[in-house]
Formats: sequence, structure tokens, C-alpha cells
Amino acid sequence: MKFFVDTADVEEIRSLAEIGLIDGVTTNPSLVAKAGRNFLEVVEEICDITDGPVSAEVTALEADRMIEEGRKLAEIADNVVVKVPLTLEGLRACAALREDDIDVNVTLCFSANQALLAAKAGASYISPFIGRLDDIGLDGMELIAEIRQIYDNYGFETELLAASIRTVNHVKQCALLGADVATVPPATIRALVKHPLTDKGIESFLADWKKTGQTIL
Ligand code: E4P
Repeated sequence: MKFFVDTADVEEIRSLAEIGLIDGVTTNPSLVAKAGRNFLEVVEEICDITDGPVSAEVTALEADRMIEEGRKLAEIADNVVVKVPLTLEGLRACAALREDDIDVNVTLCFSANQALLAAKAGASYISPFIGRLDDIGLDGMELIAEIRQIYDNYGFETELLAASIRTVNHVKQCALLGADVATVPPATIRALVKHPLTDKGIESFLADWKKTGQTIL
């Protein structure tokens, strides 16, 4: 499973990229607002940090305008993926942008049928939002399983990009269910490495090592 980082915070992306932990980046208008910076500049800087796919979202609601915005975003760098919402207009824009050979991430997916339509429109990625389904008392993971099965049934090449991930358990479940990608907030990526027994083990190994009086360097 690939890991994308879900943020518009360039410094966070740089630091995770240095550790070699990320395969790509996703942003959305709320994340850009949180970063408080110029959107086009941020996308350009992110594309300088990683060669992996960088999703940048259109803000128009009507297909022709989405296509124009998408073409402009795609000019920033070869690895820009244009993000469009899962509406009929978004699907029309998706098909047109794919004709131009521009990668498209169809976002705000909350049902298996929506994911089926996105695949038929030629989406490069589908983004089902797990956390937001959990928020309203539904099961986001069930949606991941359904999309996996439908895409496998018909051999769709659209990559299943699990989004709105809130917990380390979401990440594990996505990997078990065969999501192609999980886009994860930086804090959750960092939390994945933590285990109390790892810390305890290091502590006891170092205490025993000290008793030997040796040094490696
Ligand atoms: C995905 O591309 C979105 O940016 C993101 O995962 C949304 O997450 P949220 O529901 O926590 O805002």
C-alpha cells in the first residue's frame, strides 16, 4: 500500500519525505486554508519535494470551469493530479481531463455506486472518505471493502485511495482490505511507528549495554 500525506504544510511534507515515508501528497481547499498560503505556490513547492502524485483540487462547480482550472493546475508540474468532486459535473470534467492525459483524483466519495461511476469516467484515483462516514455513525471501512470488490470484479484500473483517515487502526484496516493508497495526516503517520514495547525494549537493551562498558564508535 502506498502512503500519501494529507496536508498542505510544506515543512511537514519535507520532513516526512526525508525519512522516505511518503509516496505522494493530497491537499484540499480546507488544508490550503489552514496552511494560510498561496495555493499555486504551495502546489509548486510540494511538487519540488516529491516526484510522487500531488493532488490539487479544483474549486469550480461547473465542468467547463473545472476543466480550465484543472488544466492550469496540471501545468504546474508533471506529477500534479487534479482533484474533482464526485458530482455529474465532476465526472464530466474527469473524463475530459483524462482525454488530455491529465491524472484525476475523484474526491468526496461516500458510496460504492459513486466509486463505480468514477471508475467508468476513467478516474486515476477514487477517494472514499472513511472518517466522515464514521462521523455520522456509518462504517467507512465497509465502503473500502465494497469498492475493492467492485474494482476487482471488473478489473478497473482506478486506484483506491482511502481518505479521511483519522486513526492508526484505519491505516491497518485499509492495508488488510487491499486499498492501493492511504492518504494519512502527518500526525497519524508519525503515530504508526509508536509501540510501548519498542520503547521499553530500547530502554532495557541500553541499560544492559551500559553494563558492558563498551562503545561501538
Ligand atoms: C482527502 O483527499 C482529503 O483531503 C482528506 O482525507 C479529508 O479528510 P478529513 O475528513 O479528515 O477532512
